[in-house]
Amino acid sequence: MKIGILTSGGDCPGINATIRGVCKTAINNYGIEVYGIHSGFRGLLDNEIELLTDKSLSGLLNMGGTILGTSREKPFKKKGSTVDEDKVNTMLSNIEKANLECIVCIGGNGTQKTAAKLAETGVNVISIPKTIDNNVWGTDVSFGFDSAVTIATDAIDRLHSTASSHQRVMVIEVMGHKAGWIALYSGMAGGGDIILIPELEYDIHNIGNTIMNRLKRGKPYSIVVVAEGIKTENNMKAAQYIANEIEYETGFETRETVLGYIQRGGSPTAFDRNLATRMGGHATELIINKQFNRMVSLNGSDISSIPLHEVAGKLRLVPQDNDLIIQGRKMGICFG
Ligand code: F6P
Repeated sequence: MKIGILTSGGDCPGINATIRGVCKTAINNYGIEVYGIHSGFRGLLDNEIELLTDKSLSGLLNMGGTILGTSREKPFKKKGSTVDEDKVNTMLSNIEKANLECIVCIGGNGTQKTAAKLAETGVNVISIPKTIDNNVWGTDVSFGFDSAVTIATDAIDRLHSTASSHQRVMVIEVMGHKAGWIALYSGMAGGGDIILIPELEYDIHNIGNTIMNRLKRGKPYSIVVVAEGIKTENNMKAAQYIANEIEYETGFETRETVLGYIQRGGSPTAFDRNLATRMGGHATELIINKQFNRMVSLNGSDISSIPLHEVAGKLRLVPQDNDLIIQGRKMGICFG
């Protein structure tokens, strides 16, 4: 049996651990030949496909990024009202020429959508959810999220000393696209006093009152964690907008930090390595059992899978009644 594997969308820690999980299980346990497809779906268009060997898989478990490279190529993206049939046919003929019986697609929301469309053409597909944003519907957690939260939490920890030394308000912007998972989890883990996420409205007066009340309680500094996707005015970046508003509202000296791509770099946490390994292995089991066109998922503490067509086009956002929000409010943390 020959299968292909590709990584698509934003990179994150844990992708290489997933490639290792799929390939070592497939090669060592089932004698499957695994072909790496370079630069996401673009590798299917450009026929950039190469056999992966044990040698190509060594040292992957703790390596950041993806050895296959990635892209945000969307081959089914319509030009006007029609899909570019030449692109689709090129992909399908390259898959056929390589004799690939299944394509394993590792990626976030965009990848799941493209994988579902590829499955509709008759190609067998298995997808694995990957994103630091943790916003892929159908799985409790995506690998990459824990690593990003760990990086962001460390950064927030470091802001406390400079905030208290200068009696300043420090605003840190974390990634997450349209979801607030990274801000919520790193904000709570890093002791944020104010945490702003796209899923919850905020009022700058509430934020100002929280900061002034802290001053009255002898804490002339505050840590504000904002998700990049919160509403701002004049298309301003989240941290800059909130820092300006706070300085205007309270008179406090305020500084902002945009954590950016650091959240996507470096070695995966142990949690992400094991989640990646488990998901990669489960993908191979689905292939062996010919249970195609499914996305591997974490359901509670169990690895499972759901039909791929159920995932495409959906976003997993932070619910208003998330227990960290409820608990945080009871502890006096301001969510806007
Ligand atoms: O999806 C991961 C992510 O890092 C988002 O959090 C962020 O908004 C986006 O990718 C950035 O996209 P790009 O890597 O194309 O700049």
